[in-house]
Amino acid sequence: MKKLNYKELKSLWIDFYKAKTHAQIPSASVVPENDASVLFINSGMHPLVPYLMGESHPQGKRLCNIQKCIRTGDIEEVGNPNHLTFFEMMGNWSLGDYFKKEKIAWSWEFMTGKEWLNIDPNRLYVTCFEGDEVSPKDTESAEYWLNQGVGKDHIYFLPKSENWWQLPSGTGPCGPCTESFYDTGKDSCNDNCNPSCNCGRFVEIGNDVFMEYIIENVGEKPKLNKQRNVDTGFGLERNLCLVNGHKSVYETELFAPAIDKVKASADPGFYNEQAARIICEHTRAAVIMIADGIIPSNKGQGYVLRRLVRRAVLKRLEINCHLETIFDNLIDFFCGYLGEYYEQVATGVENIKFVFNQEKDKFFKTVNQGVKEFEKVIKFVHKDISQNSVFSGKTAFRLYETYGFPIELTKELCEEKGLSINMEEFTIAKQKHTLASQTANTGAFKGGLADTTGATTKLHTATHILHSVLRSIYGFDLHQKGSNITPERLRFDFNLDHKMTADELNVVEVRVNEIIAQDLDIIVEEMNVENARLKGAIGVFNSKYGDVVKIYSITSPQFSSVEFCGGPHVNKTSELGAFKIQKEESVSAGVRRIKAVLN
Ligand code: GLY
Repeated sequence: MKKLNYKELKSLWIDFYKAKTHAQIPSASVVPENDASVLFINSGMHPLVPYLMGESHPQGKRLCNIQKCIRTGDIEEVGNPNHLTFFEMMGNWSLGDYFKKEKIAWSWEFMTGKEWLNIDPNRLYVTCFEGDEVSPKDTESAEYWLNQGVGKDHIYFLPKSENWWQLPSGTGPCGPCTESFYDTGKDSCNDNCNPSCNCGRFVEIGNDVFMEYIIENVGEKPKLNKQRNVDTGFGLERNLCLVNGHKSVYETELFAPAIDKVKASADPGFYNEQAARIICEHTRAAVIMIADGIIPSNKGQGYVLRRLVRRAVLKRLEINCHLETIFDNLIDFFCGYLGEYYEQVATGVENIKFVFNQEKDKFFKTVNQGVKEFEKVIKFVHKDISQNSVFSGKTAFRLYETYGFPIELTKELCEEKGLSINMEEFTIAKQKHTLASQTANTGAFKGGLADTTGATTKLHTATHILHSVLRSIYGFDLHQKGSNITPERLRFDFNLDHKMTADELNVVEVRVNEIIAQDLDIIVEEMNVENARLKGAIGVFNSKYGDVVKIYSITSPQFSSVEFCGGPHVNKTSELGAFKIQKEESVSAGVRRIKAVLN
């Protein structure tokens, strides 16, 4: 195996696929731009959904990149020592171009080639889809693996739970996959031990998804898509760990120096490695989220960010890490290497610290209030411990829900007082709450592709108009700082040094509506970046765009909007209806947010 550092592994991936005539595209934001059905971009294919469904990509039919991804799953699980909430996915795609034969040959070459990962072929195992009523047993992929020299006894056929890939929203492009694994040489856990086993013998290297199906609505069976795509994902951290012979991603250069720093400033009597890992992992994920415009809040992405920051703060308390600047130091460390690849990180370090520290300080206050609340309960309810030594589970849940007290902390405080907690009551209260919020979330996130077409397309075009109107009023130093569209509303963040007055909001609204009423055409063109710039095109995150780009223009004698964009848009502004601003608020220092709807 070839030892590689972070930069070398990234370059290796891109070099390999460029040599196979793939165009490198930049990573998209971790916040989905036109998909309200999920909170985060969770894979490399996710931002490419329109192209996997058939829209033409300006960079062609063969693409590769390294995409920032967030997978939190059940928030309660966050912090499991082997789990990363933020990771980078090395990916490549065929958009209706090559299929299984070429892809399997290339994955094999990348894994085993001397100039590439140089993994011992005898250590490799692969899995293929065993088939179901929609998609047949994937003997074709198995044949291609056999042709590469993989032994029959190294190929397993597994069910949909293991060898099928689709988005968590339950809609969109999908299909069977073939996965590659490295045999660590550990003993098998039993006679049926296979690559899908979690016993630790096999480590997943990556997967190739053959996306020839599509699910149009949640719950429907996949249908054949109009084009056959390939979507490959190799987890960067995992592969870095593997090629360098580490046992955990936390031993790699991406974490080890940060963990050492935490350890050096913790109280040895309280230190534990898992807490240090959680502190580092959550801080790193928070860096990426804040850089992409997320701020802590009580819902959506902001809620996940809040949980991560709070958990990191609690873990710091747990190990008594005394260094005041520990989080600033960690943020500097993570921004150091991530900033080399992500412009938003490189230019956002001070803002990342500001947003992180604001949440951290607020949480400290809340925790202190929680401790006071706890003391009150002790004083009034448990005055005589011999009479009442069981702390109410409902109260423990209230502390958890209102003050962010994890149950472990309440347990510790109770133990100090000689009390036990009614855990059954706690679990019931928590389950009731989880059920209630899941029901609410299902409402909030239902939708998927069907919803994202009509309503969000209109809001997307309206966002472009709003952006240009704001620039025409406040000057060309005004830039987009973030954007998010749900089927109900648009949200647009931009730099401005003051709160907008009612008059200012009125002017913006009137101007946007004037443009809509003029019934202007929305023109789409493909051109190279230089020509696009000459045309005056503005783009939010320059690094997101490759050589050939799509430009959307809306122009009249009094108005001009020219933006880099992947679409989709309406054809004429009159399709939009009436534009109405619902809210204007502050996001962070010098950044304002407008929420608006189309009626
Ligand atoms: N290539 C699909 C995934 O694992 O992200």
